[in-house]
Amino acid sequence: MVTIYRDDDADLSVLEGQTIAVIGYGNQGRAQALNLCDSGCDVVVGCPPDAYRERAQADGLETVDVPEAARRGDVVLVLIPDEVQPHVYRESLAPGLAEGNALGFASGYNIHFGLVKPPPFVDVIMVAPRMIGAAVRERFERGEGFPCLVAVGQDATGRALERALALSRGIGGTKEGAFASSFEEEVLVDLFAEQWLWAGIGKLCRLFFETLVEAGCTPETVATEMYLSGEMVEVAQAMLTEGFFGQLDLHSQTSQYGQLSRAGTVLGDDPEGRARQMLEVLRSGQFAREWAEEQQTGKPFLARLKQEALAHPLNEIERKLSRGHRHG
Ligand code: NAI
Repeated sequence: MVTIYRDDDADLSVLEGQTIAVIGYGNQGRAQALNLCDSGCDVVVGCPPDAYRERAQADGLETVDVPEAARRGDVVLVLIPDEVQPHVYRESLAPGLAEGNALGFASGYNIHFGLVKPPPFVDVIMVAPRMIGAAVRERFERGEGFPCLVAVGQDATGRALERALALSRGIGGTKEGAFASSFEEEVLVDLFAEQWLWAGIGKLCRLFFETLVEAGCTPETVATEMYLSGEMVEVAQAMLTEGFFGQLDLHSQTSQYGQLSRAGTVLGDDPEGRARQMLEVLRSGQFAREWAEEQQTGKPFLARLKQEALAHPLNEIERKLSRGHRHG
């Protein structure tokens, strides 16, 4: 059983007298900085001179350049995109770290794959909301919680877990319960969800559309059946209230039989083996190496994949049906 930490397990006074430098003021940076301020913490935001910095100033927060924030922070929360973290860490954060500081992340990626290598004299902790930044803020303001993972990657002070829990409480992450986790677990669950679950759902949806259209069904009807009707959202919502399988009762008996009897065959002969194979690609670091190489060469494959996705006939159908305005 996972250990779940709640508000009572986290002591905010651990952060008393400490400056929390929030590096970045985007999705997570803004939400976490504001929540920590409202929880009574001393926050300074480290940002380059850009629109994010202006937003932090408009929100009434103190902003400084990234290297200065790293120097001032007793706790340095790295809330900038994972892709830029290794470079920013080396250039602007590492020189400002002092003994006993804590370096905090909202994702395990760079620590787990060794792309950021902190010195032995700092705590390395993770507080990773399983929630988009906007909702981290909105839920906090409404007095509600959100799921969160906490982990200690390096315990230099002997108080790393206490600090992680205090931060988690400060952003609202122990209200609903923060799961004890690890950097590796966060990486595997996050990337596997993206690369197997969501990639698989996306591929099945495309195949569903292409197969039916090839068989002569009208594209508008197929796209509407698939997701434009909103039924998919209703089903996902029902999973929250009725349960993943419990929501099947809301469907016809024919549908229930069809879904359950065919579920094991849609992925071919050996879906479990394929899943294990893909997980191993993540675990071994093969994916991280591939992604690093793609970044170094200017992300040409990613650009091609995006182009192909935007050329899919579904985009045209969304336009015709006045949906998916982002493409229009
Ligand atoms: P974001 O893309 O919203 O970050 C924007 C901020 O990064 C801005 O303040 C910008 O000034 C700063 N920035 C960008 N490039 C920079 C550079 N080269 N040097 C200095 N600052 C730079 O990032 P987001 O989505 O908030 O992600 C931050 C962390 O939170 C990541 O580790 C991510 O994996 C994690 N995370 C994000 C979630 C989300 O809601 N998007 C959910 C859970 C975790």
